[in-house]
Amino acid sequence: MTSSTQGTSANDRVAVVTGAGSGIGLSVAQALSEQGHRVALLDRNIDEAQRVAEKLSADGTEAMAYQVDVTDRVGVRAAMDAVRGELGPISIIVTSAGVETFTPVTEISAEEWDHIVAVNLTGTFTSIQAVVPDMIEAGWGRIVTISSSSAQSGAPNMAHYVASKGGVIALTKALSFELAPQGITVNSIPPSIIDTPMARKSEADGDFPGVDVIASMTPVRRAGLPSDVAAACAFLCTDNAGFITGQLIGVNGGWYM
Ligand SMILES: NC(=O)c1ccc[n+]([C@@H]2O[C@H](COP(=O)([O-])OP(=O)(O)OC[C@H]3O[C@@H](n4cnc5c(N)ncnc54)[C@H](O)[C@@H]3O)[C@@H](O)[C@H]2O)c1
Repeated sequence: MTSSTQGTSANDRVAVVTGAGSGIGLSVAQALSEQGHRVALLDRNIDEAQRVAEKLSADGTEAMAYQVDVTDRVGVRAAMDAVRGELGPISIIVTSAGVETFTPVTEISAEEWDHIVAVNLTGTFTSIQAVVPDMIEAGWGRIVTISSSSAQSGAPNMAHYVASKGGVIALTKALSFELAPQGITVNSIPPSIIDTPMARKSEADGDFPGVDVIASMTPVRRAGLPSDVAAACAFLCTDNAGFITGQLIGVNGGWYM
């Protein structure tokens, strides 16, 4: 592949995906790679991110894995610097790194609250903040956050998670206004239950009725797949999506939120 280092042509930009080692982030990295972008896969689990990067590279696109904990502000900035040095200025970011736990409100410890907020909300902010200067410089950028439909509907035993994802939605709205004049769109996808390792672990732990049960209640009568989220996300990262900003694009099988 011939690649400019500017990341400014329509199909050869540099895209960062956080949480790219698994589930939704993995599928988003795949979709952006299929669009022809150079993809940086950031994850605290470097083995998984590396495995995905090798597969994408074998399929003919430029993909590199970086070990990052999004709660580590210095580490995030160092990783973005490495991406710039190796792939070029960053034009696209999708923030999928996230964690969930299920705990009744009376039992959420300060540590558990802080951790969920640190990964899901502050980690999203830190990751975006570290790449926005590239987008301002280029006069073009695409930012997609992965929030959660639980922040629209509420969910039991998830006060910390739901609050963190509500924060992600508010952050998305704030940034969309601030960055729109610079050619940068900022949107959020709040998925309902998507069949990923995160959802299957919560199912195995008995935290919710289960992926298949939710699927049977979903208007389209199937489970959401990571590729469903990735397809919407990939569109939001195109030139054609330039008039869409500050939006919540529900990928939820028809649940009314
Ligand atoms: N699966 C669902 O039903 C669902 C629904 C709504 C929202 N979401 C959100 O979608 C996103 C992706 O979830 P998923 O289901 O693909 O989960 P997943 O567990 O399959 O993947 C999450 C990835 O994020 C990485 N990660 C976690 N903490 C990190 C950190 N501190 N630093 C860097 N990487 C970190 C993990 O290593 C993993 O590779 C999350 O933000 C989640 O909250 C998921």
